[in-house]
Amino acid sequence: MSGKRCEWLGGDERGIARAAELLREGRLVAMPTETVYGLAARADRTEAVAEIYRAKGRPDFNPLIVHVGSRELARSLALFDARADLLAERFWPGPLTLVLPLRQPSAIAPAVTAGLPTIALRQPVHPLAAALLEELNLPLAAPSANRSGSLSPTRAEHVAASLGAAPAAILDGGASARGMESTIVALREDGSWQLLRPGPVTEAELSELLGPATPLREARIEAPGQLARHYSPGKPVRLEALAAESDEFMVGLGEIGGDCTMSEAGDLAEAAARLYACLHEAAASDRPRIAVAPVPEEGIGAAINDRLRRAAAG
Ligand code: TXA
Ligand code: MG
Repeated sequence: MSGKRCEWLGGDERGIARAAELLREGRLVAMPTETVYGLAARADRTEAVAEIYRAKGRPDFNPLIVHVGSRELARSLALFDARADLLAERFWPGPLTLVLPLRQPSAIAPAVTAGLPTIALRQPVHPLAAALLEELNLPLAAPSANRSGSLSPTRAEHVAASLGAAPAAILDGGASARGMESTIVALREDGSWQLLRPGPVTEAELSELLGPATPLREARIEAPGQLARHYSPGKPVRLEALAAESDEFMVGLGEIGGDCTMSEAGDLAEAAARLYACLHEAAASDRPRIAVAPVPEEGIGAAINDRLRRAAAG
């Protein structure tokens, strides 16, 4: 990697044009989305996709989400049934990823789907991601822009700290509004569906449209965001803490303050948006351990607790 340099691009027309040019050539660009920053590359180029896996140090059984700028492009890549249409209509563009049967023959590089007969698709709503995807009119594979297993980035600075000069450029879009990875839903051909990863779109919102979900079979690691040890801040994490011990960095919520608060008002959407920012701060602090206030298991609180349990399992 030495001698390589990473271009820092502003979120204006010039920045978007440069990001598009680099991506078209098959290079890696970190792009902002409303959830977390993604490490993007052309999903139709085997070499470019291999570069993503190298940069992240990612085990290659872990498939990638493909980002699209339009429903038409999504439909050309996957088989949409009535449920998929309904979910896309309701939640796209936005923080919902659909796992659907892969349309054959496929232009998508096989490493993107890791050999699965399905593909994970998402149309982001972030204006810079949307502008970039529209300009390119190409599918972009983009996992979260961090080394495999560590915290997801919600600011351009987090990307630079985790990946150094591995991306050719970082498109700076400021702090991610949602701050948490998309909800992942698998729609099965037998009519059932599964929640592969909880996120900003809640299970309650989904089951209102789809009926109850089929529970995940534990043995199958299809979404390694589901590996127990993931999203690790690299220090011991104590959950459900009411106060910090002297060597702990305290992540607070509501009444329980701390060194960084997820939401002073106790608002769970704000807490989700600030969770990783607080964990990044905690990881960078000189205190060896992290304590986190209790988070109610309601609405998006379920997704926050999912990430916190995995951070604590590290
Ligand atoms: O919000 C997000 O989803 C962010 C932004 C950048 O869009 N991306 C993200 O990507 O979190 P990543 O790679 O960190 O997580 C993608 C998850 C993985 O857990 C992967 O296993 C799962 O999606 N996945 C991808 N393709 C799949 C498939 N065909 N079947 C099941 N799971 C799949
Ligand atoms: Mg990730």
